[in-house]
Order: sequence, then structure tokens, then C-alpha cells
Amino acid sequence: MRIADEKVDIPPSASATVMTTKLDPWGAVSIEDYSKLFEEFGISSFDAILPQIDDPHTYMKRHIIFGHRDYQLVLDAMKEGKPFSVMSGFMPSGRVHLGGKMVMEEIIWHQEHGADAFVAIADMEAHSVRGVSWDKCRKMGIEEYVLSLIALGFEPAGHIYFQSHSSTVRDLAFELAGSAHFSELSAIYGFSGETSVAHMVSVIMQSADILHPQLKENGGPKPVVIPVGSDQDAHIRLTRDLARRMRKFLVEDRNEYVSVRGKAAGPDMIEAAADYLLENGCHRLKRYEEHIDVYDAAGAQDIEELVRRFEVEEGGYGFVPPASLYHRFMTGLAGGKMSSSRPESHIALTEDPKEAARKVMKAVTGGRQSLAEQKKLGGEPDGCSVYELMLFHLSDEEEELQEIYEECRNGTRMCGTCKKVAAERIKRFLEEHQRGRKAARERLREYGL
Ligand code: TRP
Ligand code: SF4
Repeated sequence: MRIADEKVDIPPSASATVMTTKLDPWGAVSIEDYSKLFEEFGISSFDAILPQIDDPHTYMKRHIIFGHRDYQLVLDAMKEGKPFSVMSGFMPSGRVHLGGKMVMEEIIWHQEHGADAFVAIADMEAHSVRGVSWDKCRKMGIEEYVLSLIALGFEPAGHIYFQSHSSTVRDLAFELAGSAHFSELSAIYGFSGETSVAHMVSVIMQSADILHPQLKENGGPKPVVIPVGSDQDAHIRLTRDLARRMRKFLVEDRNEYVSVRGKAAGPDMIEAAADYLLENGCHRLKRYEEHIDVYDAAGAQDIEELVRRFEVEEGGYGFVPPASLYHRFMTGLAGGKMSSSRPESHIALTEDPKEAARKVMKAVTGGRQSLAEQKKLGGEPDGCSVYELMLFHLSDEEEELQEIYEECRNGTRMCGTCKKVAAERIKRFLEEHQRGRKAARERLREYGL
């Protein structure tokens, strides 16, 4: 296993007010230029690692997943048949729409590729941030999210849980809260003296969601990938920092040797760690009071793994900073962002299929004012909500998309044609999905729900 990169994820600019790209998990975001995210927040380009994946998901192939943090760790585990997890969560505060389907598909793809999968229904977040009653959280969690997740193919070997029902996650949240400070939460999220404590707790709950697949009872430290929209990156950065803060040791590759430093480990524990390394085949090491220098040929990754194992035996966590995947958002059907609070902008997975088809027929496209103008200038498929429906959800064929794109650009395709195709397909998709949801209802017990 590779060592997760140790640099801190929150660049100095993130805490200042000079940020130009704001990622606000609770507010409206408009992210005009995703490449800014690479520079400002240190998200890596997904395209650079895409060639390593033999059968990438369509979102990967189509560059809809555009960025990641530390996904290499997950890929390595996947290839070597080592344990890894996928984890994400849904706030049950509105209807599940096509945006939620994207995250669900990414979770399921990783489950199919060997991940132990975890899904949180974030009822504590919905309750504290959006004021949703517990009854409604329960109902919406199951009726909207869980049924669709199962209908899309989530297998019962994975874990679906409500935050408020998991004492494991709540206990971990309390531990993490001991290492999180008000000043950083206010720098990341803009929390002020008026922010409710419950809102802060829900942020720490999310970090606990993300880290709990690595607890001893879930098989211990391992790479975990969190597929999310790019607006959730603030949570990921905070959680990666907390993961590092909870470590007892810091392992650093210094080229000639590997340094194992006690962060929250006194001289006795460092002594014991040195013994443990010796017993496990690292014979060339120098002991100091606060650190150990290991000169063995063993790679830094192997030493990191040994140290993690020792740390867990000593009651520590040994967390690997969680990896993440970021996807682009779809353009809303009414133009602008697709938002769960604006029904005309999205298509819910529980929506009447005919109504959905009607919405598509009325959608704002990248077309011109008149047919004549469209023939002359061509349309603009980039940012066209109907083209994106095809690209994100309704077409399996690259050639078909290519053709639509080109015909649109050169003015030989009219929006009516696209709309008719997309409307028919969304109707068929929803009919089938809703049949799947009915079948899923009968299977809830298999999932412990
Ligand atoms: N905060 C997320 C949202 O607003 C939901 C969520 C809760 C989550 N726990 C999570 C997302 C863990 C990813 C990982 O939808
Ligand atoms: Fe969009 Fe199709 Fe119209 Fe082009 S022709 S703008 S892809 S709906």
C-alpha cells in the first residue's frame, strides 16, 4: 500500500476570505470552472489515473468524474485484491433525484469491484440543519433513498444505516470532536457564534461516517473512497485532517531511511514499536527517544502498514486519510443548477414517468432562438440539459453521443428530436426503476432495515 500523501489539504487561502471558488455544502454553488478546483484545493485530475482502470464506469470514461484525492490507494487495493471500502451518505431532506442516482451508481460500481460498501442516511444532519422531524427522516430515508439504492443494484453484503441508530458512529464522532476546533470549523464552513451546536455535531458525524469503515470491528485501517459532488469537498478535507490528527505515529519516507515518529506516543510506546518492527523483519533500525529510523530495504508503504497494525493493537485508530471522487453536476432542466428544492429543475426517481417526460419536452436546451438560426449557427450541447440527460443517464453508446454532439454543433440536429428521444427514454427508465423499487420494498429485511 502507498502512503497517503501527508501534506495538509487545507491550503492557507482556504481560511482567508480571498477564495474565489466557494464550496459550500449547504448553499447554492455555481462552479464555473472545475479546473480551478485543482489549483485552489489540491484536487487531482482523474484523467491522469483513468488509463489504469480496465473497465471504467461511464462517468469515468466520459470525464463526468473529473477529480479525486488519493484514489491511487483505492485502485492499488482493488488490483491487489486487498480490502478497501466505498462510503457515502444521503441527507433525507428532499426527494431523491438524478443527482443522487449518480452517487448511488458510483457506490454500486465499487461494491461490484470488491469494496465493502457503507451508506449513511444522514438523519442527524437533516434534523439539525434542515429541521426535518425524526419520523420524516425515517420515512424519507427508506422511501426515497434506500429503495432506489437497492433497485439500482446495491447488494445486502453492504451496510445501510441511519446515523442516529449507529452508536458506533456516534461514539467515534465524540472522539473526533476532541480533535476538532471551533476556529477551523468556522474557517471552513463560515460557522459563527450564532451557529447551533447541533449543526457542528452533524459535521463531525459526517467525518465519523467516513472514517468508521476503518474501525477494528469493520476490519481495521484500509483505503476508503467517498464519491461525492464537488460541493462536499470541505467535508473531505476536514476528515482527512482529522484522520491524520488521530494517528499515534507519523511515518515519513526520507529516501535513505523511513522515519517513524511518535505523535501521540511516549518513549515507552516508541520502544515497543521498535520491538514490533524488529519482530516483523525490520532489522536495521536506530532507536531514539522520540522516533525510530528504519534503514531496511522494505518500502515505506510496508513499514507504514506495520506501524498502523501496531497502532491498532495499542488501541489507536491508524486511519488512512479517506480518498474521494468528484463528479460534475448536471445542468438543471430549467437552466442553472439542478436542485432538490426546485422541482422544475430536476427529475425525481419517484416521479410520475409521464410528468418527467413532459418536463424534458419543456427543458431549457442549448438551442437557438429560431430553427433558421439553429441551422445557421448550430446549437450548444455543452451545458444543454437535454444533452446532459443523455450523457449522464440515458445513452450507453459513445457513438450515439458523438453523433448528437456533432449534429447539434453543425446545425443539422434540432432540439425537438433530442427532446423526443430523451423524454421517451426517461419515461422507460423511470417505469423500470419504479418496478425495481417495489421489489426492493419486499427485500428491506435482507438489509437489516
Ligand atoms: N452531507 C451529505 C449531504 O448533504 C450527506 C452525508 C452524510 C455524507 N454523511 C456522509 C456524504 C458521508 C458523504 C459521506 O448530502
Ligand atoms: Fe441540446 Fe439537442 Fe438542442 Fe443540441 S439539438 S441544443 S443537444 S437539445
